[in-house]
Amino acid sequence: MKENELVKAVVRLSGYVVYISLIVVVCMVGIIAGLLDNEPVNIPIQHIKADAAAHISDATKSSTLGESSRVIPADAWKVPGTGTIPAGKAGEMINYGKELIAHTAIYFGPKGSIAQISNGMNCQNCHLDGGSRLFGNNFAGFIAGYPKMSNRSGKVEPATERLVECFRRSLGGKSPDTAKKEIRAMLAYMEWIGRNVKKGQKLFGNATEKLPFLEGAADPVKGRIVFMAKCKSCHGNNGEGVLAADKRSYVYPPLWGAHSYNDGAGMYRVINLAGFVKNNMPYGATYQNPQLTDEEAWNVAAFIDSQPRLHRDQHNDWTDLNKKPIDLPFGPYADPFSEKQHKLGPFKPIVAFQKTQINKNKNL
Ligand code: HEC
Ligand code: HEC
Repeated sequence: MKENELVKAVVRLSGYVVYISLIVVVCMVGIIAGLLDNEPVNIPIQHIKADAAAHISDATKSSTLGESSRVIPADAWKVPGTGTIPAGKAGEMINYGKELIAHTAIYFGPKGSIAQISNGMNCQNCHLDGGSRLFGNNFAGFIAGYPKMSNRSGKVEPATERLVECFRRSLGGKSPDTAKKEIRAMLAYMEWIGRNVKKGQKLFGNATEKLPFLEGAADPVKGRIVFMAKCKSCHGNNGEGVLAADKRSYVYPPLWGAHSYNDGAGMYRVINLAGFVKNNMPYGATYQNPQLTDEEAWNVAAFIDSQPRLHRDQHNDWTDLNKKPIDLPFGPYADPFSEKQHKLGPFKPIVAFQKTQINKNKNL
């Protein structure tokens, strides 16, 4: 009977509908579970330390990294004892400045309590231990050195301006309101940390270590292998970092992408990054106990700085080409080498060329 067949067809059709809806539901559950899986995790600091310990081998057992010659001179700069922080208002400012440097994201990150003007990194992510670590971008000589001529801007800059530049570049953000207490507190902290340093004083462990140049160019392909083996467990497969459970700050900061430093930052220069990584990464490595060969440090830096990140218009920077750093990957240059060579090396021919120019000028 025709009517019967119609009924059967309808029943079959509704069967399919139920079946398909079930598949859709299962898929949705899968997707949601996947999303939940990517939820940021809250990793307490002792876990970071334990995780770091797993990455750190005893340097005395490995002779390949040359650390036996890595001796810290007895008179090297040391952070002042906390006992030297004065009581009262002045001390409060210093301590507040320290807090802002350590937990910048809480105050100025995308969910910041004071202003939402930065990418969510902390100053301390690169200025390690509150800017007190040797070869970890410490603040020892900062205040003593300012005001100073900035070759980047071509102007004499006050200390405040230098600090703000890290907001704009390293924190990929906007300038904070410099009239506010926060910036004064950061400066007070930096002044305290450098209280025993005189203008022009040579400081062991300042900025980042200048590693000897490789013969060839640093190699991002080899660097990727280092990244996969020694960095991604903390910084993530795509260098995206790991957010804390409150989603306001990072447990492991991002190395590239929209939330990391932009291409106008100091870390975008491979010499700075290689020296930083050699002395401090994987987390727990130090000047005396490095975990990477120089070549590994150069290559992993080349890999990280070849990944995508936000661009900053820099056409007003380094207008005096003779003062442009050799590893600045944006032309024009006062030499015939390409942007690629300025980005990854080989740097020896660039340095050699610059020397011939200087000699030429002397003989004129
Ligand atoms: C992504 C890493 C990174 C972050 C995050 C970062 N900085 Fe920096 N900062 C650097 C590097 C690298 C230099 C040295 C740059 C150079 O030589 O061009 C530097 C230099 C500085 C200096 C100058 C130091 C000196 O002795 O001349 C100050 C001050 C400073 N940063 C403050 C800050 C503050 C404040 C924050 C947070 C608001 C911050 N930085 C965040 C990487 C970073
Ligand atoms: C055990 C976890 C861990 C490993 C492994 C690790 N890091 Fe880090 N890294 C950190 C932490 C934590 C910080 C932030 C330090 C702080 O805030 O005190 C950091 C900061 C950084 C920074 C500066 C901030 C930024 O996001 O740009 C760079 C660059 C970096 N790491 C590169 C590397 C490289 C390259 C490797 C592999 C050779 C590596 N790290 C391995 C935990 C790790």
